[in-house]
Amino acid sequence: MNTELEARQRAHIMYTWSAQSRATPLPIAGGKGATFTDHEGNRWLDFESQVFNCNAGHGETRIIRAMQAQLESLACAHPAAVYEAKAALGERLASVTPEGIDRFFLCLSGAEANENAIKIARAVTGRTKVVARRRSYHGASMGALSLTGDPRRLAGEPGLWGVVRIEDPYCFRCPFETTPDRCGVLCARHLEHVVQLEGPETIAAVFLEGITGANGGFVPPADYWPTMRKICDKYGILLVADEVFTGFGRTGRYFAVDHFGVTPDLITLAKGLTSGYAPLGAVGMTERVAEHFDTSTLQCGLTGYAMPVSVAAAVATLDVYREDRLVERAAERGQELAAGLWRLKARHPAIGDARSLGLFGTIELVTPDGRPLVAYDTVAPKDSPAGRLKEALVRRRVHAAFRWSFLMIAPPLCITSEELAEGLDHLDAALTEVGL
Ligand SMILES: Cc1ncc(COP(=O)(O)O)c(C=O)c1O
Repeated sequence: MNTELEARQRAHIMYTWSAQSRATPLPIAGGKGATFTDHEGNRWLDFESQVFNCNAGHGETRIIRAMQAQLESLACAHPAAVYEAKAALGERLASVTPEGIDRFFLCLSGAEANENAIKIARAVTGRTKVVARRRSYHGASMGALSLTGDPRRLAGEPGLWGVVRIEDPYCFRCPFETTPDRCGVLCARHLEHVVQLEGPETIAAVFLEGITGANGGFVPPADYWPTMRKICDKYGILLVADEVFTGFGRTGRYFAVDHFGVTPDLITLAKGLTSGYAPLGAVGMTERVAEHFDTSTLQCGLTGYAMPVSVAAAVATLDVYREDRLVERAAERGQELAAGLWRLKARHPAIGDARSLGLFGTIELVTPDGRPLVAYDTVAPKDSPAGRLKEALVRRRVHAAFRWSFLMIAPPLCITSEELAEGLDHLDAALTEVGL
């Protein structure tokens, strides 16, 4: 770490989601593919893609050149501006999003995509309440934070009125204490019970992450999404897939819902949309939803709507996914990740569960008697086993995501088999060193 640079920065620029005195700075000066370099020129394996963002990989010159070209031709444009990259982005998005999602509203982030989706769902249905899961994250702005179920929402309370909670498809610690053989997707079916008690005519939408992201990578049973779809259809409720984390190939398909054969009414996008090269989000919707706004005003939009440089970054990113077959490669590497995590689980008793879909894997760490290794909503102290594991990985220059008892692995989709194996070997060694 370049400590002088860090001190200069810390003097005036704040860190996110942290007491400033306890922030963990990330030393990054550049990068290529699935690796980045720090200020001393050391190579790090990026097992987190800069907050599940950089799906196309670091230093991707095709994206950078497209952004440069856009800046030189048109850098600043009115929200209603008509230009080539904007038309091209709509066409590209319509060709990769689930069948039936055809029209897109643009914004700047995942949080803002969810804010807009709430407003759109309310306008289309004339209803106000929204349903979201307990262990979910939907963004840091006030509305998106209200939708969020995890403890980050507490900082924003009292928030948006009318958010109703449902339980999670957290099979390892099933909220209904059932087992796979008796499951019957109670976590999905109980939505109907909640809807009936709340009054179906009051509920505009159900928001679900494609698969739970930062709260622990819960991959739901096969009939979870279809069951949700059926219940929403029965009561005229819009189904919203928040694919901000899981979109653009992360799970080995373009979108996590593609694994379940379900088309949501709305889909919220960001992160992998530009691979983190520029801020951009989007709300995709079916024609049935979009046509409401053919005659009614769409009461949404910022000055920075469809910033040309962000839009050009998105078009180029989508082209990189297609040209390099990155989604297919994520599915292939995903098999290797799953096998690697199961091997680690067999070797390390502290791994209570290992789950993954595509290039998003999670190991859940437990105490010898099966309790979470790190208590919910606490940060592991540096001298605790989880704290030492984190330090052992940093020493091996593997950048991974820790949250409570979950260690999440989500490298850029261009990672090679060798790099993936190298990172998993480091994880194995780190777990052994710490005695987990
Ligand atoms: C599922 C999900 N939705 C929304 C967001 C918010 O996205 P952003 O940070 O771009 O606002 C995130 C961010 O991690 C996310 O994981």
